[in-house]
Parts: sequence; C-alpha cells; structure tokens
Amino acid sequence: MASMIQPKARRYLPGLLLTAVLLMVSATAAQAQTSTADSLAAWQKVSSVLTHPRCLNCHQPNVPKQGDNRQIHVPLVVRGPAGHGVGAMTCGSCHNASNNPTSRTPGAPHWHLAPASMNWEGLSDRELCLMLKDPKRNGKRTPEALVTHMANDGLVLWGWEAGAGRESVPMPHKEFVDHLKVWVAGGTACPK
Ligand code: HEC
Ligand code: HEC
Repeated sequence: MASMIQPKARRYLPGLLLTAVLLMVSATAAQAQTSTADSLAAWQKVSSVLTHPRCLNCHQPNVPKQGDNRQIHVPLVVRGPAGHGVGAMTCGSCHNASNNPTSRTPGAPHWHLAPASMNWEGLSDRELCLMLKDPKRNGKRTPEALVTHMANDGLVLWGWEAGAGRESVPMPHKEFVDHLKVWVAGGTACPK
C-alpha cells in the first residue's frame, strides 16, 4: 500500500512546497506593507475608543465613574483589595451578568474595576499607548493578546451594548478590532 502512495506523494510534493512558500512570501509581504505610519493612524482610531466613557469609567485609579458625563460613582464605591469593592459595596451586589433595564444598572460577567496599573484616566495619548503595550502593567499581554482581549472579553464587549441611557461605543466593534490589528502589524507605534 505504502509503495503505491509514495510515488504519488512525490509527484505532488514540489507543488505543495511551492504553494507553501508562496503563501509565506505573501504573508510577509502583507506584514511589510503595514508601515509605522499605518500603525500610528490606526492608533488614533483605537485611542478614540479607549478614551470613550464606556471604557474609561472602569479604567480608573480607585473609584469608578458613571454615565456619559463621567461623574463619580453614586453611591461612592472604592476598588478594595481585588477591584471588586469592599463590604456591602461589592460590585456584584448591584451589577449582574447582564444589563438590568429596570434599575438601569449596567452588567456583564465579572463586573469589577480594572487593576490600578491599568488606569487610563488623565494619561496623554502617548502615555496611554505606552501603558497599553507595557507587559508590566497590561497583565503580561503580548500585542496579539491585547487584540484577543479586546475582540472577546465580556467587559469590553459590554461597551457596544451599554443599555438604556448611555451611549454605546460609536465605532462598530469589528472596525475597532481591524484598527487594532493594523496597529499591531505595523509595530504598535505610539505618538510622540
Ligand atoms: C466593568 C469594568 C470594565 C469596563 C467597562 C471595561 N474594562 Fe477593560 N478591564 C477591566 C478589568 C477588570 C480588566 C483586567 C482584566 C484582566 O487583566 O484580565 C481590564 C483589562 C483591560 C485590558 C487589558 C489591560 C490593559 O489595560 O492594557 C484592555 C486592553 C481593556 N481592558 C480594554 C477595555 C476597553 C477597550 C473597554 C471599553 C470598550 C473596556 N476595557 C471596558 C474592566 C473593565
Ligand atoms: C449599590 C449598588 C452599586 C454598587 C455596590 C456598585 N455599583 Fe456601579 N452602578 C450602580 C448603578 C445603579 C449604576 C448606573 C447608574 C446610572 O447610570 O444611572 C452603576 C454604574 C456603574 C458604572 C458606569 C458605567 C458607565 O459607563 O456608565 C461603572 C463603571 C460601575 N458602576 C462600576 C462599578 C464597580 C467597579 C463597582 C465595584 C467596585 C460598582 N460599580 C459597585 C450601582 C452600583
């Protein structure tokens, strides 16, 4: 049996190898075509989402903010040891796994404050960019892992389904992820 298959395989092998090489070459070419300038332009789109209230309200040093006008959380709640609040004021005592249209309380699985190292409030565009790609502060994420997080994480996706009374992120989610991929392919460029 094996002797019958082998000559056939030998006949197809050069063609297969050639196809593989061509695929590799075109992938590299696509990557090389994404310039630093492309990456920088993509970053501007990315940062317009990161600084939207839906993201910024949770990426805070100690106290979350609320609403499109970004007021201090009422009632006052604080981060606590693990970002889930303290005492009776833990996030999960009010925030559920999905939005509550009756109480207007927003919700998504594991609702809690972003770690202090992931604070985005008050950062310049450059500082935000440097923070985001710094593994010491971003939860040890590679640039690719950042894309995966922002493509799939429930708290991120909530920004596109924010519930009544608050604006969802205006840029379509797919477009946001496409900009992220360009930012990464061009070398995660940051503004000066
Ligand atoms: C309810 C609070 C909450 C909201 C809303 C939220 N985040 Fe986060 N975010 C977190 C928490 C908590 C973590 C840490 C989770 C981890 O490291 O696994 C985090 C981590 C991240 C990280 C990885 C680390 C970093 O900061 O570089 C990114 C990227 C991120 N969030 C993006 C977003 C974006 C984009 C939005 C808005 C569309 C958003 N988040 C909205 C709570 C939130
Ligand atoms: C006593 C109940 C309660 C607790 C405890 C609570 N929240 Fe809230 N939170 C609310 C309500 C209600 C709203 C909606 C307010 C509104 O928009 O009218 C809200 C809104 C928010 C928003 C605003 C989302 C946006 O972009 O508008 C964030 C962020 C938030 N909470 C984070 C947290 C975090 C993090 C914790 C825990 C540290 C927490 N909350 C604890 C009741 C609570």
